[in-house]
Amino acid sequence: MPLKYVDEIISKMTLEEKAKIVVGVGLPGLFGNPPSRVPGAAGETHPIERLKIPSAVFADGPAGLRISPRREGDELTYHATAFPVETMLASTWNRNVLEEVGKAVGEEVREYGVDILLAPAINIHRNPLCGRNFEYYSEDPFLTGEMAAAFVRGVQSQGVGACLKHFAANEQETNRMFIDTLISERALREIYLKGFEIAIKKSKPWAVMSAYNKLNGEYCSQNKWLLTKVLREEWGFEGFVMTDWFAGDDPVKQMEAGNDMIMPGKAYQINPKRRDEVEEILSAVKEGRLSEDVLNRNVRNILKVLVNSPSFKGYKYSNRPDLDAHARVAYEAGAEGVILLKNNGALPIGVDKRIALFGTGQIETIKGGTGSGDTHPRYVISILDGVRERGLKIDENLAGIYAKYVGDMRGIEEYRVRRGVFGMPIMPKIPEDFLSEEDIEGFAENNDVAFIVISRISGEGYDRRPEKGDFYLSDDERNLVEKVSKIFHRHGRKVVAVLNIGSPIEVASWRELVDAILLIWQAGQETGRIFADVITGRINPSGKLPTTFPRDYWDVPSWSFPGEPKDNPQMVSYDEGIYVGYRYYDTFGVESAYEFGFGLSYTTFRYGNLKVEVSDNIIKISFEITNTGNYPGKEVAQVYIRAPKGVIDKPFQELKGFHKTRLLNPGETERVEIEVDVDSLAVYNGEKWIIERGRYEVRVGSSSRDIRLTGSFII
Ligand code: BGC
Repeated sequence: MPLKYVDEIISKMTLEEKAKIVVGVGLPGLFGNPPSRVPGAAGETHPIERLKIPSAVFADGPAGLRISPRREGDELTYHATAFPVETMLASTWNRNVLEEVGKAVGEEVREYGVDILLAPAINIHRNPLCGRNFEYYSEDPFLTGEMAAAFVRGVQSQGVGACLKHFAANEQETNRMFIDTLISERALREIYLKGFEIAIKKSKPWAVMSAYNKLNGEYCSQNKWLLTKVLREEWGFEGFVMTDWFAGDDPVKQMEAGNDMIMPGKAYQINPKRRDEVEEILSAVKEGRLSEDVLNRNVRNILKVLVNSPSFKGYKYSNRPDLDAHARVAYEAGAEGVILLKNNGALPIGVDKRIALFGTGQIETIKGGTGSGDTHPRYVISILDGVRERGLKIDENLAGIYAKYVGDMRGIEEYRVRRGVFGMPIMPKIPEDFLSEEDIEGFAENNDVAFIVISRISGEGYDRRPEKGDFYLSDDERNLVEKVSKIFHRHGRKVVAVLNIGSPIEVASWRELVDAILLIWQAGQETGRIFADVITGRINPSGKLPTTFPRDYWDVPSWSFPGEPKDNPQMVSYDEGIYVGYRYYDTFGVESAYEFGFGLSYTTFRYGNLKVEVSDNIIKISFEITNTGNYPGKEVAQVYIRAPKGVIDKPFQELKGFHKTRLLNPGETERVEIEVDVDSLAVYNGEKWIIERGRYEVRVGSSSRDIRLTGSFII
């Protein structure tokens, strides 16, 4: 819609109407507010009927559209697809997969009458304990930005909007609504803002959500430097900015900083110290504390986007997205995101092998995390359902024991699934070590291979803990792993650990006990099918870690997490600077359990024939990958660049390019071409971006520590 039209609307608006456009209607369906016209949506804008401006609907989230699956007095259901969590999507390293998932989610957004999807979330995996890491892609900003851009392109190809969140530096949940995050400008720009910058420039998202936290003393939603100077003036962002839900404490400052919209509105409903934001803005303009020009600017930023929304266009949505097609997209995405961490010949197994499944997670399989990143799909295929559906020979006796055990335990008060804040489920962990050695002995006699499922769930509002049962195995989990391994090995049987988790756990102290480790993450509604197909080799794992698995929590560089003072953190200082994830482990020679970019396959790949050319500010890197093993497979090739020693300290190496091959048959070769922009080599010296001169090393690898080819170029 032409901009002239937007200006025309604004010229007709009263002050009160303008104030309403920049504030949401209040959290729909709660605190006595009417439900959204799409029940379960997180927010809605004010309609202005006089000017034919309809309300727009915003809904989460990163693993699929989050709306209520049922509506009062309505027979129909409104399920949405549960895709793999973002960390798993990033493990695919496949831009096409992200775009396909984006398209599928976008179609559900449109067909359920929503205008803007509150995703992707693209904060950085600074610390493995952040409760929402599963909702974020990676510890690396380049991978993050590329994944986000592809996802946003997919979503927005459906005529609806995407919203990058949480801008910026929202890397923990502890006291997230007021924690002050202290970061050097260099780390901010090179690590924490970079993914946003890439995604904004490459995919033009309709919206950005500012983060809850303070950034160097100022709430992100009230931070003019962040929202106006960096986001708009430097990067040329053309969409609008909304707050995170109930963020900040000063609507006038939010308006001035360039935070165009305040969501969800009516903050006084949760905090008696706050005033109605519409009234606050109105009185500020009337009293000369807020210029009407600022308000006009924000209204314009919002309307410019919303005039292109389905609601504005009067789109007649069907409430019938193609859930069957999207289930296939979810399956394919998960299939590419599974990571094989260890394999001493245990996998794949023949379809005729007898399988003993251990771990309560085979029944209570975790599809994704809790909070706004949750989803309500038609079904979730548990690991047990998945192997049954594929007709694999599982030990039904053992499966029956587990089903009964889980059922009985959940009936006990201590282990009952409860509802926490905003109805989030709280699932106390059930002890895993309930089978006697004698029982296990019997299962080892009757089966060929054991799988032990280890699961974790986390979510919005709290961080994980560096303790047993969370980052570390609990004693009962470790006992189970020890007993099953000992007894099955005595019978000459293999043992495979299956990690159904959303963020790293400790593996180094127990991995020698098992023959293989399969990281299936939280793969959404298709988890069980994906699992069954990976273990039988129908899917050859091709995922790579988007985040380091540290040997021990105390090796993680962000030791100040989640801030000071320890009992109730008010501020968190990112003292490790740019040395986040592999940038730290590689530069300071710290061993990890599994490094960034790592992942095995059922086949092997050879790299060869590297060529590096620089022309017109582009570094052209090409090489060949050949499948040298016996299974068809895909490989993720990664290009790291090592900068020359210059005036500024730099990480040992940094990811600057990657490519996932097509499915290569044994013996088949693909020529890979990757272009790296010379500008992307720039480092921030505290004041500006500079490119150091000298010889740069090109390191092409199968992981960050498995470099297969090296070359160089001179700047
Ligand atoms: C979360 C956002 C989410 C919003 C709306 C907030 O608590 O931080 O990610 O989009 O709620 O549900």
